Amino acid sequence: MEGALSFAVETAQNAFKAAKEAPTWAKAALAAAALMALREAYLSATEKSVEGEVCLITGAGSGIGRMLAKSMAAGGAKVALLDINEAAAKEAAAEIAASGGHAFAARCDVTSHEDVAVAVAAAREALGSDITILVNNAGVVSGKPLLETSDRAIKRTFDVNVIAHYWTLKECLPSMVRNNHGHVVTVASAAGWVGIPRQCDYSASKWAANGLAEALRMELRHMGATGVSTTCVCPFYIDTGMFEGVRGSWLPTLPILKPDYVVASMMTAIRRRTPVLNMPAMVNLTPLMRAGLPVAAFDWCCDFLGITKSMDDFAGRSIDAPGSS
Ligand SMILES: NC(=O)c1ccc[n+]([C@@H]2O[C@H](COP(=O)([O-])OP(=O)(O)OC[C@H]3O[C@@H](n4cnc5c(N)ncnc54)[C@H](O)[C@@H]3O)[C@@H](O)[C@H]2O)c1
Repeated sequence: MEGALSFAVETAQNAFKAAKEAPTWAKAALAAAALMALREAYLSATEKSVEGEVCLITGAGSGIGRMLAKSMAAGGAKVALLDINEAAAKEAAAEIAASGGHAFAARCDVTSHEDVAVAVAAAREALGSDITILVNNAGVVSGKPLLETSDRAIKRTFDVNVIAHYWTLKECLPSMVRNNHGHVVTVASAAGWVGIPRQCDYSASKWAANGLAEALRMELRHMGATGVSTTCVCPFYIDTGMFEGVRGSWLPTLPILKPDYVVASMMTAIRRRTPVLNMPAMVNLTPLMRAGLPVAAFDWCCDFLGITKSMDDFAGRSIDAPGSS
């Protein structure tokens, strides 16, 4: 024991001596690494649990919403799964119930405030409590050049991707504010930081969702609702089928994301009350690049990284496809 202790002290003294004698750049790197380790330790020590929370997720019948519902239930939350595709939502809820979780599912077209009000009331009744975590996840994409996009698709994109958030907020936020306890998660997109060809409607709707999340965070802060957190999620393309056919960047740090990575990161961000989650980390550079570079240089970076052409072979779930929602 004594030997181990003196070995540890000697190692620490040697490391300290080596650090003292290191060149300035190495000292700076060491200090940054130490700060990041401290930050990580603090964040993981202050993580909240989702156990006992009541989480409502829109668009929970497939993709990210469905997987997040399962993760929430596995963490001990009761889950309300809303989707315009009733069969998919019910199937996901049955899977959660079969593995011991507590879930409720309902058909809800989030573009209708009336539908949302009815579904939220039914969820409250079925789960026995107010909603404490709201995840605005339902989303649609048309994926066409602006001049080929129907009027209906443009309106639908805004209705689902951003206007619907107001309806769910109006139904779920009052009890969160009253109890000073809750969390609002906005699933926006990295397309809410940068404009992409064939996304004139989608990108704009996600910029709007970003703006709503930002203003809401500031408003809650201003009114002293310190117990209500917000998380705005901005992922690059995810391999869920919604954006089938898109090309990721050639850059290894900007790949098409795996859904399980996205959902695990979202769970961590919710537990840590992270206000903005950009995925992958490289997306954090976008606002900095926008601010620091002339527009032409920023556009050239998008070309160079392959972003500009990323939608050229889009074959995803277009709302302009016959029979779509
Ligand atoms: N897949 C990606 O590459 C990607 C990237 C960034 C952000 N996002 C965002 O993530 C979210 C989830 O996307 P996903 O990849 O899981 O897609 P997805 O198509 O698998 O899931 C979207 C769900 O929303 C539902 N929905 C559509 N319109 C609805 C309506 N009017 N009312 C209720 N539900 C409705 C659909 O039925 C579907 O179950 C979306 O907001 C999307 O914009 C996706």
